[in-house]
Amino acid sequence: MSDEAVAASPAAKKVFVRTYGCQMNVYDSQRMTDALAADGYSPTSEIGDADLVLLNTCHIREKAAEKVYSELGRIREIKAERAATGREMLIGIAGCVAQAEGREIIRRAPAVDLVIGPQTYHRLPEALKRARGGEKIVETDYALEDKFEHLPNTARTEIIKRGVTAFLTVQEGCDKFCTFCVVPYTRGSEVSRPVAQIVAEAERLAEAGVREVTLLGQNVNAWHGEGPDGQEWGLGRLLFRLAEIPGLARLRYTTSHPRDMDDALIIAHRDLPALMPYLHLPVQSGSDRILKAMNRRHTAADYVRLIDRIRAARPDIAMSGDFIVGFPGETDADFEATMQLVRDVRYAQAFSFKYSPRPGTPGAEMKAQIAEDVKDERLQRLQALLMEQQGSFAVSLVGRTIDALIEKPGRQAGQIVGRSPWLQPVILDETAGKIGDIVKARIIRVGKASLFAQPA
Ligand code: SAH
Ligand code: SF4
Ligand code: F3S
Repeated sequence: MSDEAVAASPAAKKVFVRTYGCQMNVYDSQRMTDALAADGYSPTSEIGDADLVLLNTCHIREKAAEKVYSELGRIREIKAERAATGREMLIGIAGCVAQAEGREIIRRAPAVDLVIGPQTYHRLPEALKRARGGEKIVETDYALEDKFEHLPNTARTEIIKRGVTAFLTVQEGCDKFCTFCVVPYTRGSEVSRPVAQIVAEAERLAEAGVREVTLLGQNVNAWHGEGPDGQEWGLGRLLFRLAEIPGLARLRYTTSHPRDMDDALIIAHRDLPALMPYLHLPVQSGSDRILKAMNRRHTAADYVRLIDRIRAARPDIAMSGDFIVGFPGETDADFEATMQLVRDVRYAQAFSFKYSPRPGTPGAEMKAQIAEDVKDERLQRLQALLMEQQGSFAVSLVGRTIDALIEKPGRQAGQIVGRSPWLQPVILDETAGKIGDIVKARIIRVGKASLFAQPA
């Protein structure tokens, strides 16, 4: 190696990555980190040490998007401090704010060097090279297929070992256009990754010691592709294939849409022990009027009937969901219908949000926007009910013996933390097993956000 090559050796470069939003951003951040590692960047958790700061952003609610700008104010100061000592720092904005706002970000925050949308991160090393030359870069117009085509290449360069559980994106984008939601605009239309790519990545993960894979997609159950048998596969069929991979003991998928929950997927829940009995199936509202205004294209009764069928197939399945309160026009009666649906379904976990009008979505233009204090009150009542249900689900497990996948050391010495089939952390004595083991655990007590167990 020549001296020049050593001097230019990128080995010393550091990247700081902060991730906002959904699991797909977590996955993308990891792939970006992998791609950057090939380019000589190693990760750091200290912004001040970073030659490159990458914020992988979320645009779903106003608060999420605005957080990026307040964070940028802070980072700009650190960039100036570094500049004073002759060290460069590039600032890159990735993810859904990048896609939604593009060049506007650089106008509002001139310290930003690079804006890169979620479909373009495989072009990051090249874009960085140009940014280092002093150019302001905005990359937001590539096709999703292009990103997927490049995924196996970045994955082949070595999957950085991150634990015994992993995410795997199988589908991206959304064609549903719920009237409150920015995702169809930021992530583009639905694209499925090919079966062979998914299987290859899952095999690599399993070889690296991963025991549990969560398939990701904005509408993951809309995934479809041609199987090796020449037939059209849906997610159910794909899950059966992935369950054959040696070492992969647990499979999950998220997020699904009620309209794409087909029979084959319900059969997978019935017949596939590796498919964990946990289903995140957002409904948003229990009022048919509001569901219609949201363009969800199903009724509350459709949703409840669907869950009845899923529970008939897999009785121990735990349900999770998403809710929005205060969508334009939501009356007290509409909100009560949501409360009633929650009582009928009984959730093991759920996420609930105040409606946030997003620029460019039909909901933001609707009349009868709901006052903030009404939203606050409804959210409080809904969350109290959901918390109560979550608590009683956890309590119902006390005395039972369950499988726990051991994931990491506990916060306190002598403890390890596993994961229940229903995603709760399970605290055990460290002698119970080693990381990656699936152990029998008897639940003895419920903690604030976890279960305490003894080896059974
Ligand atoms: N693709 C998934 C998740 C989309 S975003 C789905 O279809 O369910 C995750 C959640 O954020 C949504 O389920 C919804 O509950 C919430 N959300 C989306 N847009 C929102 C908005 N404008 N205001 C408040 N909550 C929103
Ligand atoms: Fe957004 Fe609706 Fe698509 Fe989910 S299904 S990503 S809520 S538009
Ligand atoms: Fe946010 Fe984009 Fe995910 S808006 S929730 S990061 S798809």
